[in-house]
Amino acid sequence: MLAVPPRIEVVRRPIETQRLVLVPIETSDSADLWSAVQSSRSELEPWLPWVPFNADQDASYRYADASAQDWDNARACRFGIRDKKGRKLYGVVGLEAFAHLHQSVELGYWLRTDATGHGYMTEAARAIVGWAFTVLHAHRVRVAAATDNRASLAVIGRLGFRFEGIARQAERCHGRWLDHAVFGMLATDARA
Ligand SMILES: CC(C)(COP(=O)(O)OP(=O)(O)OC[C@H]1O[C@@H](n2cnc3c(N)ncnc32)[C@H](O)[C@@H]1OP(=O)(O)O)[C@@H](O)C(=O)NCCC(=O)NCCS
Repeated sequence: MLAVPPRIEVVRRPIETQRLVLVPIETSDSADLWSAVQSSRSELEPWLPWVPFNADQDASYRYADASAQDWDNARACRFGIRDKKGRKLYGVVGLEAFAHLHQSVELGYWLRTDATGHGYMTEAARAIVGWAFTVLHAHRVRVAAATDNRASLAVIGRLGFRFEGIARQAERCHGRWLDHAVFGMLATDARA
């Protein structure tokens, strides 16, 4: 089984990195989430199939509410990535698709466009992957990115995931099929 800590504990003592604080998403984040998506729609849309459905502020509220419920039901742990000093919301990093029997989770992430190019996602995702192994007791973390998503593949490369193969036409996004490069990291891998 994965060991999901109570959300309130992690809200009170969020994950801190050098420049960032990673806080479980809840409904109080919905206005910031909406503004981040609105400011970055054209950069997010090619890679994230949910973006067109995030069409009004209420959709961000529903997402934030569902994220809190998913955490409480041990289905997923999603974090808002915030600046340590100003607390501005830069994006989201999450562990999804919990398979308790197999102790496996999937990593997903996005940044608002004006927060890209600073290494924030590598910093946040590295911390979350470490958290997945040490706190959740995950055995395996999977991550997938479209074969032409250069920025995401670079993040995955910096984190030290191992390439496992191509999932053909795994996702329909922005009017085209995306081939996914699939990567994994195990608790027993040196990087973990
Ligand atoms: C994928 C995504 C999160 C990557 O964002 P990113 O800013 O490129 O990644 P990082 O935050 O790790 O930053 C790395 C960049 O910051 C630069 N950088 C600047 N200062 C840095 C610092 N202090 N430390 C580390 N890197 C730094 C790096 O050189 C790198 O730039 P480069 O790729 O031009 O060499 C972003 O492009 C995104 O949200 N895309 C749309 C959604 C998406 O594709 N999600 C993933 C679906 S699989």
